[in-house]
Amino acid sequence: MARSIIAAATIQRRHFLAFAPAALAGAAGFAKAGLAADAPVTVGVILPLSGAFADQGGHYETGMRLFQEMNGTKAAGREVRLVIRDDQGPGSGDLARRLTQELILRERASIILGYSFTPNAMSAAGLLTEAKVPGIIVNAATSVLTQRSDYFTRISVTMSQVAHSLGKWAAANGIRTAYTIVSDYAPGLDAEKWFVKGFTDGGGTILRSDRTPLAAMEYVPFLQRAIEAKPDAIFAFNPGGDVSIAFIKQAGERLKGTGIKLLVTGDVVDDNLLPAMGEAARDVISAWHYQTDVDTPANKRFLAAFRAKFGAAAVPSYRVVQGYDGLALIYQTLEKTGGRTDGEAFMAALKGARLDSPRGPVLIDPATREIVENIYIRRGEIANGVGVNATFATIEAVRDPAK
Ligand code: PHB
Repeated sequence: MARSIIAAATIQRRHFLAFAPAALAGAAGFAKAGLAADAPVTVGVILPLSGAFADQGGHYETGMRLFQEMNGTKAAGREVRLVIRDDQGPGSGDLARRLTQELILRERASIILGYSFTPNAMSAAGLLTEAKVPGIIVNAATSVLTQRSDYFTRISVTMSQVAHSLGKWAAANGIRTAYTIVSDYAPGLDAEKWFVKGFTDGGGTILRSDRTPLAAMEYVPFLQRAIEAKPDAIFAFNPGGDVSIAFIKQAGERLKGTGIKLLVTGDVVDDNLLPAMGEAARDVISAWHYQTDVDTPANKRFLAAFRAKFGAAAVPSYRVVQGYDGLALIYQTLEKTGGRTDGEAFMAALKGARLDSPRGPVLIDPATREIVENIYIRRGEIANGVGVNATFATIEAVRDPAK
């Protein structure tokens, strides 16, 4: 069924292109074919906007809207129109696939920006390849995704980039033994594998690796078993939001007085979750690609605009930056192609792109379409009664070690 719809779409597209070759021929060609050079570009946006992870979808959308408020709604003279759909969070790969199809066929989306969760991105990969539509992954962090479609790139991070950096840091900083606890699905398995590699290559020993259900809210049995193993540190990944608040609160309580350090990927202690975590996030060591203390003009501009809109004390989730940068990448690429959106031209222009992001410098590796960016090592602190992730080491221009 899905295949035949895409086959029909391909025919429709061929038909469309047969009568509008200018769509492939750059800005000059638009006028020749009777198409306005400033015809809108539709960006299909797929985010979790309902269910347990609805707040995450809201953050990406906030970033996209903020970018347009700061930079206008046009790129290369064309209006950039966002058509937003709700994939309801993880475990809804079929829905994400259907929405991708609907956005390409019915809404004529030229680019898809979205996919918070790996299974949803995975389910859409084949469609994007078939329709030759670029897909910019707004969050999903499993390394293999960019190898599942030549039309995928990523504006987030890979779990392997983060966990490998943290594993190496731990081994080099006096931690001899570790116990891992990750959510039992693709990004969790990447996090476990690459933390273990970085840590054991540096001389560390893994005592045991446990995996927890994706949306688990109860971590005490896992923490108890880890404490009994007496590691120097526990390394953990879980996918943010209420799940991670539950994990950090339970870990904070159980680990108190044990001397066991807690190391996590930065989504677990997203800046905007810190108020709900309170004291429990103090001293948690994390690795990530964004926190509010990035000291650059680009981040100052971003924070000023965010706070002008949401209040002087507002703290953005890193997800806001990913949504904001997703549109920055689309605008910059459209400027490069002169407004052309056909998949091949767009992907060719996107490879090697550089962004001056609030997170720091970003490069899209032309060989892998994978993001190259700084990874920051942070410690949870309470400053003036407010929880912060304070950066104490920066690893510059980290590539995905899995490629
Ligand atoms: C993913 O599904 O790839 C994913 C989701 C949430 C995260 C990180 C990765 O915080």
